This record gives sequence, C-alpha cells and structure tokens, in this order.
Amino acid sequence: MSLTLRYMNSADVKRVVAIDRLSFDLPWSEESYTYEVHESTHTYMVVLEYQAESMTTPGWWRRLLPFRNGHGAHGEVVGYGGLWKIQDEAHISTIATHPEYRGRGWGEILLVAMVRRAIMLQAGYVVLEVRVSNTVAQNLYRKYGFATRRIVEKYYRNNNEDAYEMELLLTEDNIAQFEARFAAVQALHPFSDAYTTTLHPRSQRFLV
Ligand SMILES: CC(C)(COP(=O)(O)OP(=O)(O)OC[C@H]1O[C@@H](n2cnc3c(N)ncnc32)[C@H](O)[C@@H]1OP(=O)(O)O)[C@@H](O)C(=O)NCCC(=O)NCCS
Repeated sequence: MSLTLRYMNSADVKRVVAIDRLSFDLPWSEESYTYEVHESTHTYMVVLEYQAESMTTPGWWRRLLPFRNGHGAHGEVVGYGGLWKIQDEAHISTIATHPEYRGRGWGEILLVAMVRRAIMLQAGYVVLEVRVSNTVAQNLYRKYGFATRRIVEKYYRNNNEDAYEMELLLTEDNIAQFEARFAAVQALHPFSDAYTTTLHPRSQRFLV
C-alpha cells in the first residue's frame, strides 16, 4: 500500500465534498472548494491519497481508475485539509479523514503536513477552531502542542456550540521539535510528499 500527500486539484473536489458531508454538521459547498483550489491566492489545500496496490486488480481496470471521481492516477483520496496563510498567521480551515479510514494515523499525517507547510511559508503561528465537544480532534491538536488561547462563544451556527481557538507558536524550539516529530510520523507511515516539498501550482500564475 502507498500514501501520497499532494495539493488538492479540481478533480478531487467531488470526493472531498463527499468526505466533508460525512464528517461535518456544517459542510462546505462544492463551490467553496472550487474557489479554494482555483481562485484563492492564499490557500494551500492538501489531500492524502491511498493506494492498496492489489496485485489482483486487472490491468484494464487500473487504466480506468484515473477517470473515476476522487481517484487520481495513483489512488483514492482518503482525507484532506485546508490551510490559509495571511501575513504571520497560518490558519487550518478544515481537516477530515474518511470515516472508513480513521484511527490509522492518517489524520495526523494531514495535520503535520499543514504545520510543515506553515513553517515553510514562514508563519509565526498556526491557529484553528474546534468544537468544544470534539475531543478526538482536540487530542490530535494537543499531541502537537496546540494550546487553547480563547473560547469563541456560539461559533457554530447550527447549534450555537462554542469553539476553542487553539494555537501553536512556531518558535525556533517548537519548529526543531516539530521537524523531528514530522520525520517520526513519516518513518511510521511512509508517505510520499508532494505538498510540503513543492511550490503551490498557482505560484507560476501569481508568483506567491
Ligand atoms: C479529527 C480527525 C481528522 C482525526 O483523524 P484520524 O485519521 O481518525 O486520526 P489519527 O488516526 O491520525 O489519530 C491521531 C490522533 O487523534 C486522536 N484520536 C484519533 N482518534 C481518536 C479517538 N477515537 N478517541 C480519542 N482520540 C483520538 C489521538 O490523539 C490520535 O493520536 P494517538 O493515536 O497517538 O492517540 C477525524 O476524526 C475526522 O475526520 N473527524 C471529523 C472531522 C473533524 O472533526 N475534523 C476536525 C475539525 S476541527
């Protein structure tokens, strides 16, 4: 099996929207993802692709895979994330793994990828909002040193739930510690990484 991190593109949007709907009470629209992928000049959307590498898959079927929704030339999108970088701030706007693939360490791969992208973009800190009831996600963020900086009351409009605004300061010490942990995650779950190691495709268009 293989795992690949790469920038989200328009062919991923339908599959990402499907995972989003399975993951959130307030999912984003398809148009929002399309905007993030095509228009926004400060967004770094990521997907994690999984390929089971079954030796029994016939060659003719493998050749059809790239044309199925949510399947790139190499595999199936199993999770995604969004990062905005504005001045000193890197903001994790979303993160989810498909329910069938949770608990395998793959959400962690997406989180460390976005934190690393933020470091490479020279952000001073990473911030995100999380429901006060979402202890699974909070555990993931705390594992990487995120701390609550404030409570945003009634942040979620479907049920007026409060959010914790959580922050990770990208100090030199934290970055050094983080890089060691990134390497450990990659050793544990080997993945190829075209997200933190390459410029965003739009950099050719906007020079950012
Ligand atoms: C949050 C989410 C992305 C985590 O993805 P995942 O692939 O299941 O998580 P991982 O297997 O990588 O686990 C990473 C860490 O998350 C926490 N975690 C994961 N599953 C957990 C569970 N069932 N109970 C408690 N903590 C859990 C743990 O800290 C875990 O680290 P550990 O294995 O060392 O204990 C996933 O649960 C999800 O998509 N949830 C719905 C969308 C969502 O809530 N996104 C966050 C919005 S703020």
